[in-house]
Amino acid sequence: MPARIIGTGSYLPQRAVSNKELEKWVDTTDEWIRERTGIEQRHLAEQETTTSMAVEAALAAIRDAQIEAKEIDLIIVGTVSADMCFPSTACQVQSLIGADCAVAFDINAACAGFLFGLSIAQAYMQAGMAQTALVIGGETLSKMMDWQDRSTCVLFGDGAGAALVRKQERGIISLVQGSEGKRGMALTCQNRPVNNPLVKNDTALDHTRMDGREVYHFAVKTVPKAIENAMEKAGVASGEIKYFLLHQANLRIIESVAKKLGQPMEKFPTNLQKCGNISAGSVPVLLDHVNRSGMLQRGDKIVLAGFGAGLTWGAAVVEW
Ligand code: COA
Repeated sequence: MPARIIGTGSYLPQRAVSNKELEKWVDTTDEWIRERTGIEQRHLAEQETTTSMAVEAALAAIRDAQIEAKEIDLIIVGTVSADMCFPSTACQVQSLIGADCAVAFDINAACAGFLFGLSIAQAYMQAGMAQTALVIGGETLSKMMDWQDRSTCVLFGDGAGAALVRKQERGIISLVQGSEGKRGMALTCQNRPVNNPLVKNDTALDHTRMDGREVYHFAVKTVPKAIENAMEKAGVASGEIKYFLLHQANLRIIESVAKKLGQPMEKFPTNLQKCGNISAGSVPVLLDHVNRSGMLQRGDKIVLAGFGAGLTWGAAVVEW
């Protein structure tokens, strides 16, 4: 029994920071960032938190789907930048939107978090455990950056996106997921180290560290294969796909995937120019932007694909 996306929403922090502005903070140039990544600006949280952005995205999705929060019976938030270790972001969202009938939890699959959330929601529906799920990807990555490290801090942004998913006859046609923990050290952020009466440890909190080339090679090799697997599983040819909505990490990665799939770039909408890489928020924010700009008609087939730390990846073929 498939599940259908019935509404989307997103939220970006009020404050946009251009590449030019970044030049004041870190040894970089607008030209380098545009040429290597395509990014022109990103939004950074000031008043916003991961929870507040997830709530705004959720409320927008609820309005779009025209349902009541009480109809939601499952809330999954993909995030690596929760405001609190516990309670989960999902439980805070549940409380703030009044989705009192939902079971709520967070997942960590980094930039594939939204795709992993969709998979879990669909599995719950197949098992008869949920009817209406709210799947959110949201991040405040700016708090996890080393603002002296130009190789990472220029790439990421803050924001959240949400999709409401309902058990229906048509909708998500196929989903594939994968993980390769052996290569996980390519993109890391250490949590608090052991610190107790037995082990004294006053190490400062870690920041995001990345072997950019390793991640780049992983992405351009793994993502096209994952998309091909998802299309094969769905019995859908690439020519039938209207849009490929990929994780917005780097324009060069998206161009390489388009080339490998033999599809024109016009089928790959992007917003990384304005948003940077929002990790788990990236795919649902783009989906919402595409949905709200009226680019999707009922019955269109689209691909969603996320990839990142773990290393993890996921791809889905969805009938709109
Ligand atoms: N501004 C200016 N120069 C920079 C810079 C910046 N922000 N970041 C790095 N550089 C410099 C490096 O120091 C290096 O200088 P050197 O040649 O004097 O040593 C030079 O640019 C090239 O660095 P390199 O890391 O080899 O660049 P690259 O072409 O591999 O591009 C990335 C770097 C990060 C853009 C690219 O590897 C990438 O996009 N990787 C994938 C990352 C990703 O998508 N991560 C998220 C996945 S979820």
